[in-house]
Order: sequence, then structure tokens, then C-alpha cells
Amino acid sequence: MDKRDLDPTALVIVKETNTINFNEKIESMRKYAKENGVPIIKDEGLVFLKNIIGLKRPTNILEIGTAIGYSAAIMNQVSNSNIYTIERDINMYNEAKRNIDDLNIKNINIIFKDALEAFDLVKDIKFDLIFIDAAKAQYTKFFDMYTPLLNKNGVVVCDNMLFHGVVANEENYDNLTKGLRGLVRKLNAFTKELMQNEKYDTTLYDIGDGMSVSILK
Ligand SMILES: C[S@@+](CC[C@H](N)C(=O)[O-])C[C@H]1O[C@@H](n2cnc3c(N)ncnc32)[C@H](O)[C@@H]1O
Repeated sequence: MDKRDLDPTALVIVKETNTINFNEKIESMRKYAKENGVPIIKDEGLVFLKNIIGLKRPTNILEIGTAIGYSAAIMNQVSNSNIYTIERDINMYNEAKRNIDDLNIKNINIIFKDALEAFDLVKDIKFDLIFIDAAKAQYTKFFDMYTPLLNKNGVVVCDNMLFHGVVANEENYDNLTKGLRGLVRKLNAFTKELMQNEKYDTTLYDIGDGMSVSILK
């Protein structure tokens, strides 16, 4: 018999050790993201997302845009939800896989695919929360494609909705590069559609890089 089966204090120590490892690993992921210019969720946005997850207690979460698995690992830690997260960049996917394996998390499924081509892989799952955090110009497409999989009262959270404060300043769009202007216009159009979508109650928050929360009525 394992000695820890008889000694409850030993169990506590094991738990604490795991917690320390998780925090250390998360810190090393943050460092990696900073050093390699990987855009992960901002601290303020992360606290907000954790609060939503804490209140909602989702069983299944869909994330579009894994990057190195940072937000997925933290969403899983606060909820133990099953997470399906989609990433199209092979380097990001490999890094995320390594990180999630290192953390020994079994219920995060990383899907290596363009999210616009991954619907069939998740179409039989119902989600309580969808977190959209990938190519900003494609938010309308992601939303239209994946929200039919949302449970009633399910929540859609979108990050970077204010895009460094640029989206709200329509009069300054002409000063942007052509590529950026197109992206910001699409994000602006998506925001307006979302605010007017009567199937959802949507609030836009000036948190992190701008986050929207839409609750399916
Ligand atoms: C902002 S990062 C995600 C950050 C991550 N959610 C976090 O906070 O830790 C966006 C990621 O989405 C990926 N991405 C962009 N467009 C995508 C698409 N159409 N399908 C899948 N992944 C996409 C990018 O390769 C990038 O790694």
C-alpha cells in the first residue's frame, strides 16, 4: 500500500506540490510568450474570463485560438472543464501540446486545424462556453459557424474587441495601413452585429484589449 493512503498530511503535500508545478509552468509559458512575441490573453482579461468560468461552471468549453495553450490550461484549472481548442499554426500547436502534456492535463483536446475547417470534429458536442481569440477578421465566421453548438444560456466570450483602442475610433481608420484597416473594419462590423443580435444579451467590456460577453437567451 502507498504510504500516502494512510497519511492525510502527505496528500496535502502532494496537492501543494502539484499547485506549485502548475504555477511554475504557467510562469514559464508567460515568459516564453513574452520572449517569442506570442499574443496571449492579458492579465486583466484573464481574471475576467476566470470569473465568468467560475460563475458559469461550464462542462465543455470551445476555444478558437490556442497559441501555446496558456488560456486553455488556466480555464481548465479553474473549472476542470473539458476543453476543445483549435490552432492552425503547427509551431503553436506543438508548443501547446508539449505544455499541456507537461501539465499532465487529460481533458484538453488540442485540434490542429484551421477553425474554419474544424467544425465536423466538434459538431456532436454541446458547449457551455465558446472563447473566440483567433484571427480578428474572421470573428463573424467563427461566431456563425460555432454558436449553433451552444447550449441554452451558453456564453460566447470574444477577446481583442477594441483592438488596442483602434476599433472605436472610426475617424482614424484612414491613418491605418490597408491590411489593418480591413481587419479593424471587419471587427467593427462584427461588434455592431453582435450588439444588435437579439438572440443574445451582449455586453462589451473595456477590459484587457476589449472583451465581449454574449449570453444565448
Ligand atoms: C491571440 S492567440 C491565442 C491566445 C490564447 N487564447 C491565449 O490567450 O493563451 C491567437 C491564435 O489563434 C491562431 N489562429 C488564428 N486564426 C486561426 C484560425 N482560423 N484557426 C485556428 N487558429 C487560428 C493563431 O495561430 C494564434 O496562435
